[in-house]
Amino acid sequence: MSAAGKPRVLLMHPILDPGPAILAEAAEVVPYPPDRPLDEASIRQAADGCVGIVSQVMDPIREAVLSTPGLKCVSNVAVGFDNIDVAAATQRKVMVTNTPGVLDDTTADFAFTLLMAAARRVVEADSFTRSGKFRGWAIDMMLGADVYGATLGIIGIGRIGRGVAHRAKGFNMRVIYYDPHPLPPEAQDQLGATPVDLRRLLMESDFISIHVPLSQDTHHLMSTPQFEQMKRTAILINTSRGPVVDEAALVEALKAKKLAGAALDVYEREPAVHPNLIPMSNVVLAPHIASATTRTRSEMSAMAARNMATALRGGRPPNLVNPEVKK
Ligand code: GLV
Repeated sequence: MSAAGKPRVLLMHPILDPGPAILAEAAEVVPYPPDRPLDEASIRQAADGCVGIVSQVMDPIREAVLSTPGLKCVSNVAVGFDNIDVAAATQRKVMVTNTPGVLDDTTADFAFTLLMAAARRVVEADSFTRSGKFRGWAIDMMLGADVYGATLGIIGIGRIGRGVAHRAKGFNMRVIYYDPHPLPPEAQDQLGATPVDLRRLLMESDFISIHVPLSQDTHHLMSTPQFEQMKRTAILINTSRGPVVDEAALVEALKAKKLAGAALDVYEREPAVHPNLIPMSNVVLAPHIASATTRTRSEMSAMAARNMATALRGGRPPNLVNPEVKK
């Protein structure tokens, strides 16, 4: 509690309007020093005396941080929360919240952007043109892959996966999906998506887009055996979490031409990118920006601030990922 009588909240990184105002009404906001490393010991030290932490995907919020005396809530400004040890938080009765829903369409848009960019070699074509190599139209220049009418395999048919399927309809794509929890038949029909097992998805897809949360079950879901089963002409798109794809195995598979290309927004050891991906012209690389539009990042900020404010006022935050903590 601060001198002003407001509970202290550690803000790990700045958030967008109207988030700061919502937070400031409920708490005394303590900014995390921007030059301080993001390791657990440093965060634990900075969290001393705080009842809340507003975190982002790069912040490791695990046992050491969760043991901060008096900590009540960790509000993650993201839909994914694999940076937080939720089991440890639950055990310590710390609420964990996220920002679902507001970023689905923006993220699905970006997955499709990456798909199109990789299929039609947009990044490569841009550098080619800028570097003055364009000497005139040529029948065999920058030949890419057709998106229209191709088969799209979606791994994970949650809100974002469904958004991608919906967009694929406009491109007359055949949509197949793999998810251990398939949609009810009516939803499937409406979406025009057919459930298949992972093996069939890998074998039949021209594009594979991943939309699963990172968990023990999805860690390295895509590795050497999976790349072996893909079409040699297929392109892999990942906007979920880096460790869902075995990055070293992807590099080897790309080198061996087991697949034609990849478009990645997330990496196994962010912000590091596997050095062998950098020179590959058949790979599109983005810096974890799938939800980065002004509107969406602002809504995520507001939502995270509201989650925290509700928790501080003794309420049950609307986006509680461990509801057992607050009955
Ligand atoms: C971003 O990666 C998110 O999980 O919202």
